[in-house]
Amino acid sequence: MLASGDTGKSTLTITDNRTGKSYEVPITHETIHATDLRQIKVNVDDFGLMTYDPAFMNTASCKSTVTYIDGDKGILRYRGYPIEQLAERCTYLEVAYLLIYGELPNKTQLTEWAAHITTHTFVHENIKKLMDGFHHDAHPMGMFVSTVAALSTFYPSAKHIADHKERELTFYRLIGKAPTLAAFAYRHSTGMPFVHPDNDLSYVGNFLNMMFRIAEPKYQPHPILEKALDVLFILHADHEQNCSTSAMRSVGSSHVDPYSAAAAASAALYGPLHGGANEAVLHMLDEIGSLDKVPGFIRDVKEGKGRLMGFGHRVYKNFDPRASIIKRLADQVFEVTGRNPKLDLALELERIALQDDYFIKRKLYPNVDFYSGLIYQAMKFPDQMFPVLFAIGRMSGWLAQWSEMVSDTEQKIARPRQIYLGYGKRDVPMLSQRQ
Ligand code: SDX
Repeated sequence: MLASGDTGKSTLTITDNRTGKSYEVPITHETIHATDLRQIKVNVDDFGLMTYDPAFMNTASCKSTVTYIDGDKGILRYRGYPIEQLAERCTYLEVAYLLIYGELPNKTQLTEWAAHITTHTFVHENIKKLMDGFHHDAHPMGMFVSTVAALSTFYPSAKHIADHKERELTFYRLIGKAPTLAAFAYRHSTGMPFVHPDNDLSYVGNFLNMMFRIAEPKYQPHPILEKALDVLFILHADHEQNCSTSAMRSVGSSHVDPYSAAAAASAALYGPLHGGANEAVLHMLDEIGSLDKVPGFIRDVKEGKGRLMGFGHRVYKNFDPRASIIKRLADQVFEVTGRNPKLDLALELERIALQDDYFIKRKLYPNVDFYSGLIYQAMKFPDQMFPVLFAIGRMSGWLAQWSEMVSDTEQKIARPRQIYLGYGKRDVPMLSQRQ
């Protein structure tokens, strides 16, 4: 059934008013191929038209089957499965398998997958020496980025990226070792001895063990906290072409090993506008301090004196579905840990923002980072660990997207063009002649 006015032709006709010439370019997947614009010229030796799109506000960089987001409807699906169902019915390792292989594992596949990852939780002892080289107050995300990159020197064969066995080994190693690197970074910052992985525990239970075990012979994770963190890792696992995933793909497109690409992705995630926002939310709540200061803070934000961290999103122009799940999860965690007093501040900020025209007009809603930090803090993670927790969850998404990119025959090394607005040709003056 054609919509009114449809010609039935899936093409775009462009008239260049500089020349009066018309061009017809095909429309596929609601996009036109940017290189189809190169034919549009004034002079035959012109380069031809390009598109200009800083921050890629309206540019598809790839075709993907991993994650689907509908920003207006607040929809997030991994390989077609709604995030709400995955959070309720799966573990993080099942979701990691789904993202990477495209289907949920059956019982046998899950057992093998979990066994592979569990046997790759240890890191080379030299990684500890690397960790010891950092200042006592080094930010754990800086340590995480550095040690992920360092893993590439321990597994040089990972550079054979066309070798599927090598790729699988890297999946096991990076998903298995991310929690270990994260926990070691934390233990370094506290001056506590590193805790070795305990392979009897679940993926999350072992992470909590490496983070918080003191002198007890066997660490017992609290089941509600273990489950809550597992759900949080699921919610953070992938999110289509976000900044850090774009970094993973772009750096990976040079065919560097996946450890180096994952380090670049981790570095992108570190930024306060991206994965560092969860830490920034807590700093913001500390800065506000009390409920009576909330209206003044909102006023400052509206006057452009800062941002309401944890609010807004490039894609979601409605509720971030993850934020809704996290908000429900908070109640379960606070049952165990005691209510985080900052929750009242966050709820008041949300209440005021959701009814204020400044935020409504800009379609600013709580995103995944607005409430997650409150849960992490209640679980005794220091603020600086929040982006590291984000990176643990996102590691499987980065690897799934990287794997898709290196197998995509349409992909080449990422190398954008530019609009040059600098000097024309000029001669170099001798030093004595320079002003
Ligand atoms: C994540 O991409 C992903 O998928 C990311 C992520 C993932 O899972 O990978 O979802 C994870 O990074 C979530 C976002 C975490 N970041 C924050 O919470 C930081 C605060 N939010 C923003 O800085 C901002 O909303 C972004 C970075 C998230 C999105 O920025 P955009 O799409 O580039 O929007 P913009 O900066 O152009 O803002 C549009 C307008 C501007 O106002 P005007 O210039 O039109 O007057 O909205 C305003 C902005 O000033 N605005 C905010 C705001 N976010 C945007 N104003 C106040 N507070 C905010 N948080």
